[in-house]
Amino acid sequence: MTHPVPSCKPAPTAARRGGPLSGTVRVPGDKSISHRALMLGALAIGRTEISGLLEGDDVLATAAALNALGASVIRSGDDRWAVDGIGVGALAEPEDLLDLGNSGTSARLLLGMLATHPITAFVTGDASLRRRPMGRVVEPLSRIGASFVTRERGRLPLAVRGAVDPIPIVYRLPVPSAQVKSSVLLAGLNTPGETTVIEPRPTRDHTERMLRYFGATVSTEPEQGGGVRITVEGFPEMAAAPIVVPGDPSSAAFPLVAALIVPGSDVMVEGVGVNPLRTGLLECLDEMGADIALLNRREEGGEPVADIRARAGTLKGVEIPAERAPRMIDEYPILAVAAACARGCTVMRGLAELRVKESDRLSAIANGLAACGVRVSVDGDDLIVEGADNFPAGDALIATQLDHRIAMAFLVLGLSSNQPVRIDDALPIATSFPGFVAMMNGLGAAIGEE
Ligand code: S3P
Repeated sequence: MTHPVPSCKPAPTAARRGGPLSGTVRVPGDKSISHRALMLGALAIGRTEISGLLEGDDVLATAAALNALGASVIRSGDDRWAVDGIGVGALAEPEDLLDLGNSGTSARLLLGMLATHPITAFVTGDASLRRRPMGRVVEPLSRIGASFVTRERGRLPLAVRGAVDPIPIVYRLPVPSAQVKSSVLLAGLNTPGETTVIEPRPTRDHTERMLRYFGATVSTEPEQGGGVRITVEGFPEMAAAPIVVPGDPSSAAFPLVAALIVPGSDVMVEGVGVNPLRTGLLECLDEMGADIALLNRREEGGEPVADIRARAGTLKGVEIPAERAPRMIDEYPILAVAAACARGCTVMRGLAELRVKESDRLSAIANGLAACGVRVSVDGDDLIVEGADNFPAGDALIATQLDHRIAMAFLVLGLSSNQPVRIDDALPIATSFPGFVAMMNGLGAAIGEE
């Protein structure tokens, strides 16, 4: 048998229009920060206690991999996780394949850690992850001294043999990617001297913030043309430290946009991370005329947090510059849904990276919207959505292609379309947002298995 038989049957699910959405909710913990809390906890000395960790499939894949590498990650209570770290340089060779499921962040960041430990590991994932490019981390990690055997075009499964004598590098990212940046910085922890990443456009900086929080030395300097140069010093002594994971802004985006497009709605999402490198969607919605307010701004565990209130109203089409993409890369599916309900045309520029996400999201968005009766086109790497200025038709079955954000975005569209929208499988939603359907229905939505 070359392909595993899926353990669960798909869960076809439909969303239909009902009354207004209202209420106050919290969304699960930030996926990016959750992965990093477990990984850096494993590389620190002592016990790191974490609350608010996202208990989604992606993060559980990271936890399982770290246990296989010799750290101890346990669920120590209700909303409590504990990581007993083993220190930089102490990862043990895993006895079996590391299966990272759907999670690109687990794969790319763990490969960075493995690349500078003198051990061999075999890494794979689900059908979606096995299609995604790993060459973007294999290339810089090979320069540091790791060796890899991959499937064609750098695909998983792959074998990595970590460098015995890692070499510090200065690496300029060819594409803006927080995963590639983080992979190289994590490799730099067990490398002598300074490892530097230069990014053309700033991407989410959770790795840098958390490294500092655990006691590593990381410097950040602006580069010409708006980029950033980040340097980590090798062999830090990282000490365990408590972490509170804020709500994921990428998950909050779904109830917030739902509130904007379902008439009469008023929804508050509490405790959402508002790191400025994650708030591109909020800027776009503001430009579209959305009634959104950030309240009770505060700092928790080194990250800015706020409560966000969204109220329904008329949205207008806007032009979104390519420069904004790294600060909202996961939010295009739900932004496209907002655009489909807006008055006028929305142009989203520079979306090439969407083609290599959990699915080819550029096609998935365009095909899904077209199936729902929305006028949409792809011009090179740009997506152009003609707003319905009212309710899209709906009445479509969307192929989710193992992509949690495509699944959630089209269920939200179904809440405001004239006819229901069905998705072929709601199970992938658990990768980032367990409890999504129950939370939305608690706000008054009508989403159910078919
Ligand atoms: C992530 C970075 C982004 C994002 C992903 C999470 C991270 O990917 O799409 O969901 O945690 O670093 P890229 O770095 O590939 O853009």
